[in-house]
Amino acid sequence: MNTLRGAFDEDAELYDRMRPRYPAELVAGIVTLAGLTPRSRVLEIGPGTGQLTVPLASAGYEVTAVELGPSLAAVARRNLRDFPRAHVEVCPFEEWTLPPDPFDLVVCATAIHWIDPAVRFTGAADALRPGGTLALVTTHHVAGGSEEFFEQVQRCYERWDPATRPGLVMPDEASTETVFDELDRPPWAGPVRASRHVREITYTAEQYLNLLMTYSGHRALAPDALHGLLGCVRGLIDDRYAGRITKRYLHELLTVRKAS
Ligand SMILES: C[S@@+](CC[C@H](N)C(=O)[O-])C[C@H]1O[C@@H](n2cnc3c(N)ncnc32)[C@H](O)[C@@H]1O
Repeated sequence: MNTLRGAFDEDAELYDRMRPRYPAELVAGIVTLAGLTPRSRVLEIGPGTGQLTVPLASAGYEVTAVELGPSLAAVARRNLRDFPRAHVEVCPFEEWTLPPDPFDLVVCATAIHWIDPAVRFTGAADALRPGGTLALVTTHHVAGGSEEFFEQVQRCYERWDPATRPGLVMPDEASTETVFDELDRPPWAGPVRASRHVREITYTAEQYLNLLMTYSGHRALAPDALHGLLGCVRGLIDDRYAGRITKRYLHELLTVRKAS
């Protein structure tokens, strides 16, 4: 795979180690808003190594996850081995054949932007039963945590990544909002409900560099640029921040119900 969306599959074990799981209250929010019962059937699009799949499967739901990357899917299956009602299929969602039985919940965490906009929501709607719920989790890096570090680290990006827009600043939470025009009252759905979940994670320099290597944009850099960038980031964390920085994440949960 040589596209950006395929880059996550290049090191599935690293992805599994470094990418955060989701806050328990966010998962509980999905369950409540979708009105899941022990018999509910869940479809997940782009599960990665199971960051959201594992808590849903461990709650007992029947989960089918459709993942583009075979290596990610293999790690996800390993993470789901204790949950026989969870299955991972390797296929681009756009090409996946819907099973005859519809789902009560279709969920997609930090992955909907990788799915073809022409079919991502209509495909999800087709997979849902009437009254079923589509739940989208988005993840944003927002101002907060080690704020000064994130200002200063832009110099590293400006030096080593030619695509960096000069003077980029972290958006603040208040001005960050996920909007999908396609969800603005499509014929199949009711209004969108949104909730927000903020959390901070502290990383050592080594951990933070490993996290960066799970981002497709970083993986796509030329080897010299990547080497220079990671050295610059590591130097900043070690020399100016005593080896640790804190990143602030905003997860948004959007849910929309299919008309009955
Ligand atoms: C940023 S990762 C998110 C993974 C995981 N859901 C998480 O929350 O960490 C995006 C995921 O979407 C998958 N993906 C990208 N395009 C896809 C497609 N067309 N069909 C299915 N999965 C896709 C990638 O392989 C990757 O696992």
